[in-house]
Amino acid sequence: MEYPVHDILIIGGGAAGLRAAIAAAEARPDISVALVSKVYPMRSHTVSAEGGTAGVLRSDDTFDSHAYDTVKGSDFLTDQDAVELFVRAAPEEILQLEHWGCPWSRDPDGGIAVRAFGGMSVKRTVYAADKTGFHLLHTLFQTSLRYSNIRRYDEWFVTALLVDDGRILGVTALDVRSGQFLPLLARAVILATGGCGRVFAFTTNGMIKTGDGMALAYRIGAALKDMEFIQYHPTGLPGTGILITEASRGEGGYLLNAQEERFLQRYVPSRMELGPRDLLSRAIITEMEEGRAFQGPYGAYVQLDLRHLGERLINERLPFVRELTQEYLGIDPVREPIPVRPVVHYSMGGVDTDTEGKTSITGLYAAGEVACVSINGANRLGSNSLSECLVFGARAGRAAAHGAADAPAPRAEVIAGRAADEERRVAAWLTRAEGTERLAALRDDLRHGMERGVGVFRTGEGLREVLGKIHDLRGRLARVTLDDRSRIFNTEWTAALELEFMIDVAEAIAIAALAREESRGSHTRRDFPQRDDVRFLKHSLAFWSREGPRVGYRDVAITRWPPEERKY
Ligand code: FUM
Repeated sequence: MEYPVHDILIIGGGAAGLRAAIAAAEARPDISVALVSKVYPMRSHTVSAEGGTAGVLRSDDTFDSHAYDTVKGSDFLTDQDAVELFVRAAPEEILQLEHWGCPWSRDPDGGIAVRAFGGMSVKRTVYAADKTGFHLLHTLFQTSLRYSNIRRYDEWFVTALLVDDGRILGVTALDVRSGQFLPLLARAVILATGGCGRVFAFTTNGMIKTGDGMALAYRIGAALKDMEFIQYHPTGLPGTGILITEASRGEGGYLLNAQEERFLQRYVPSRMELGPRDLLSRAIITEMEEGRAFQGPYGAYVQLDLRHLGERLINERLPFVRELTQEYLGIDPVREPIPVRPVVHYSMGGVDTDTEGKTSITGLYAAGEVACVSINGANRLGSNSLSECLVFGARAGRAAAHGAADAPAPRAEVIAGRAADEERRVAAWLTRAEGTERLAALRDDLRHGMERGVGVFRTGEGLREVLGKIHDLRGRLARVTLDDRSRIFNTEWTAALELEFMIDVAEAIAIAALAREESRGSHTRRDFPQRDDVRFLKHSLAFWSREGPRVGYRDVAITRWPPEERKY
């Protein structure tokens, strides 16, 4: 049978995927680049990024300052060579976006405006009001349309990576609209599928962020690096988890407890609301635990007060915050404080890559949140993520384009058997005998279990409990039947495949968290409250095995900033 063949397949149509596609198509106009996404690209989660993208653009700023802030913010777990490269490349990417038409917000003199963000020592976050992701994604998508060598597979769900003798050969994928199952062959594959926030119950992440790329790579032997580091953003809307951007604090918003106190003076006195996210989230949870928070229908919360900023500034720089709080809570932030609480936002960990996005599997690359390069270490600074997608998306695209030149053409006969096995596995969901379990119930159990066991504060006991639950869920998964047995746009079917990914990823997170017997960045163990550089100034690496994940470690690359006590 003839299967579609491309030089490069990019899985994921958000910022990293589109940037990679453009870079690859530009680097090698003679090659064919395919962009495969389980949603139409403009529905990728990048669209909901709000506050901005970091880069050194001003004369009061330096690459060293951006690098040091990032390294310190990460609690010294970043690879510093990667950070140095990143901070130098970020401004070029931001200016490239400007040239492609991204409507960055401006200063009165017409220059690109910058705003303050947590953990950054100067204003360096470039923004488009508080709809940065929307504008950035539009710009990338429209730019991608200029390249005739980019072919899109919209609403195609990738079920597996095909690999032979350590080399990537392509993917198997389901066309969600028709139910057709096909191998798509390629000389190189770039994963750009985003993170895994949906593994948790309360998250800012869109429904689609189910850790697909992480699980796909893990299942064929790539390591998942630093998965224990899950970022809780300090300000999510109770109930929905919708993000209230850090830009609200960058523009001067206050956090208040129920005693109307700016409580951060007791936790991060020199930075207050512009402290890093790990410290702020811990501070808020502590206020809740010690009875100084408000109580509402969705539990404890603190308040984000923007009233003193005034209607004009809110309308100009934070219009989306106003829109969201009015729509979802009936609250106008011009007149009332906003209830907020910490919410799962971002995975610092991901598929282990080098600075060109290369993984340990020949021809397989990863970029963006799905990857761990690592520039975020144990805690990412807000607004480094979009820049990371641009910088490392472009690098992976170029590296894959050049790498594909030397790669042999994938041969259909090598993968035919494996693709048929995978099709049988995936199709089996539609023909299972009547079972006793419901998909949604399992998903809820997983997500609430992760929330309880792998929260802002963790213990060995809680982590062992969640691992027990994950073990049970694997058994229960075999007893799930789907109500919808059709092939056409069967989102229950893809949700089942996503749940399989989520369980693998959740297990890697929990096992790496249990093994890390220290507190660093976003990983706070009540039973190991100190950072332990002797044992754990290392990246964790989780590998798939039949007996369950196996955890190893690798040294952190330190170029110029030796670990120090992290004070703000
Ligand atoms: O709060 C925010 O706007 C989030 C930004 C980020 O995660 O980088």
